[in-house]
Amino acid sequence: MADDWCCLLKQLRDSNGQISNLEQVVGRLGLETSCSRMGFLLPDRESCIRTRHPSTFYCYSDTYFGLPLWKFFKTPSYKRLAESEDTIYRLAMELIESSDEATTESVVFQSILKANIDEREKTAAIIDFIAAGIHTLKNSLVFLLYLVAKHPGTQEKIIQDETKAYLKACVMETFRILPTAPCLARVTEEDLELSGYRINAGSVVICHTAIACKDDKNFKQASEFRPERWLDEEKSETASNATFLLTPFGAGRRICPGKRFIEHILPKILEYTVKKFDVQVVNPMELQFEFLLSAKGPTAMIF
Ligand code: HEM
Repeated sequence: MADDWCCLLKQLRDSNGQISNLEQVVGRLGLETSCSRMGFLLPDRESCIRTRHPSTFYCYSDTYFGLPLWKFFKTPSYKRLAESEDTIYRLAMELIESSDEATTESVVFQSILKANIDEREKTAAIIDFIAAGIHTLKNSLVFLLYLVAKHPGTQEKIIQDETKAYLKACVMETFRILPTAPCLARVTEEDLELSGYRINAGSVVICHTAIACKDDKNFKQASEFRPERWLDEEKSETASNATFLLTPFGAGRRICPGKRFIEHILPKILEYTVKKFDVQVVNPMELQFEFLLSAKGPTAMIF
């Protein structure tokens, strides 16, 4: 998959080596990884167009945090959300209907397809996986490539370090500085007292882990991208401070089921990319929060 990804970058970059909409290319990778090798990285795969579905997460954010006018009439965000959900629903239906050799490679899909549940439940489970995987991976990989490219010498260090510890440190540092899921949400099941505040059962509690990760009290020079803090003599202090603060995949019973897979795939993609290309940043990145933290793309980078 990492090879296909590099081939696709080569194919899509312009004569200056620039990819002008990295999100679109990475979205294809997200779809390919979430759907486990369905061919979305092949240059002529027309179905990748589907990754351009209207930004689901923007609409989530607008309908979730904005005035709930959608309860009374169909607001533009509500319509876009419905359109986006329809696109993902159609894709999931196609996956179920065309479950062939390609889907047999996917343990997740196979277990869903073989489960003793009806078609609607299967579709819902596949939609959950596709929706939860594509944007999170896309944002995280764009952040990772951006931070690595922006800091001189980082790519050389990744290539030189045969232990791959530096590679993994870059991924951890990216999750610390730019986590696509910057907070965790829970609904309390019983009355609680937290930091002196009385919280009634049924309240939504948002835990802003991203803020804690950028606090100098928790990490030295917290705003700086310094993968070295995860290595050698600094390692144990960083890791112990990070235990409950750095939770890019959540924690407890609802922890992300994609965690292990992403922890495997992100370093792999980064390693292959820096070995094949000298990645360069084109413009400073602006951020936006659309339920997830993401780059205010399109992000251009040189490969
Ligand atoms: C960089 C990539 C990813 C990040 C940062 C991420 C992050 C998260 C976070 C923070 C949660 C909430 C956990 C909690 O509340 O404790 C979550 C839930 C979830 N994620 Fe991921 N995720 C990623 C990739 C994926 C992938 C690739 C898949 C599927 C293939 C996936 C499937 C899910 C599902 C189904 C849930 C809901 C779990 C539940 O509510 O029980 N995620 N993810």
